[in-house]
Amino acid sequence: MRIKKAVIPAAGMGTRFLPISRSIPKELIPIIDRPTIHYIVEEAVASGIEDILIIISEEKQSITNYFRGLSEQELKLSERKDMKGLKSLGMITEKSNIYYTKQEEPLGLGDAIRYAKDFVGDEPFAVLLGDDVIYSDKPCIKQLMEVYDRFGTSILGVRKVDKENIIKYGNLKGQLKEDKIYIVDALVEKPVDNEIYSNIAVLGRYIITPGIFEILDNIEPGKDEEIQLTDGLNLLAQKETVYAYEFEGRRYDIGNKMGFLEANIEYALRDEGFSQDFIKYILKIAEKHNKI
Ligand code: UTP
Repeated sequence: MRIKKAVIPAAGMGTRFLPISRSIPKELIPIIDRPTIHYIVEEAVASGIEDILIIISEEKQSITNYFRGLSEQELKLSERKDMKGLKSLGMITEKSNIYYTKQEEPLGLGDAIRYAKDFVGDEPFAVLLGDDVIYSDKPCIKQLMEVYDRFGTSILGVRKVDKENIIKYGNLKGQLKEDKIYIVDALVEKPVDNEIYSNIAVLGRYIITPGIFEILDNIEPGKDEEIQLTDGLNLLAQKETVYAYEFEGRRYDIGNKMGFLEANIEYALRDEGFSQDFIKYILKIAEKHNKI
């Protein structure tokens, strides 16, 4: 079965980005000129997914405003060479159907996914976290979709991370099946010392079979008193085969300040339009602050 639908949870509280997240959803915080969630919707569309559900909260209505179709005037402007961002927005709103649903309370990522049940129906679906941007040659979720096409089961996007960082993520216990592909034995969310299985973390991209919904409906809160998607996936892996795939790409967690800064700097360095001026500026300013 082809993956036709994507779910983007974006209803979290964004406590790591207070105070700005009181009035601007962290998913709308920009990398240069486009909000984080723009890059994520773009990734889904570039992977051939047309139907996208964004899970928002009562306070995050501004996300729906951002994705409204372009006006006549904006359409004309988007033809201009210096309006690449607007053109990209026009393209993604034209090529996709974006739907919204509200999570009543921020009870955790696992709870947020429950709200996608009616939208998803009985099909496997893609999940892209609303604050995780992945820069890669082939869109990250497309990479997972290609692994799904081979195995027809849930595929979790994973990467190896430094030892000190593993405690921030879902952690994988698995067996290497072939290059970059693991069979999932177990998962643990934000492991403390003796719970750490490996240096492999689950990072923001998933293909999930619909069996997850029944599990999430019956699960108890886990770490941080939240309904954890990782706990749900751990139970799913006990019921059916789940794979993990080490995707290619540079990941930025925009939900934390350092990730936001890294993304802005690296996207600026990649931008043909002003990378040269930006490099000169960075070198000058770093020297001034005596950091190199
Ligand atoms: P995070 O854990 O990074 O988001 O969830 P958060 O809870 O907003 O972050 P902090 O810890 O308070 O700073 C990853 C994604 O899942 C969404 C978030 O909006 C984010 O895009 N999410 C999280 C929900 O939709 N609902 C939730 O209850 C929790």
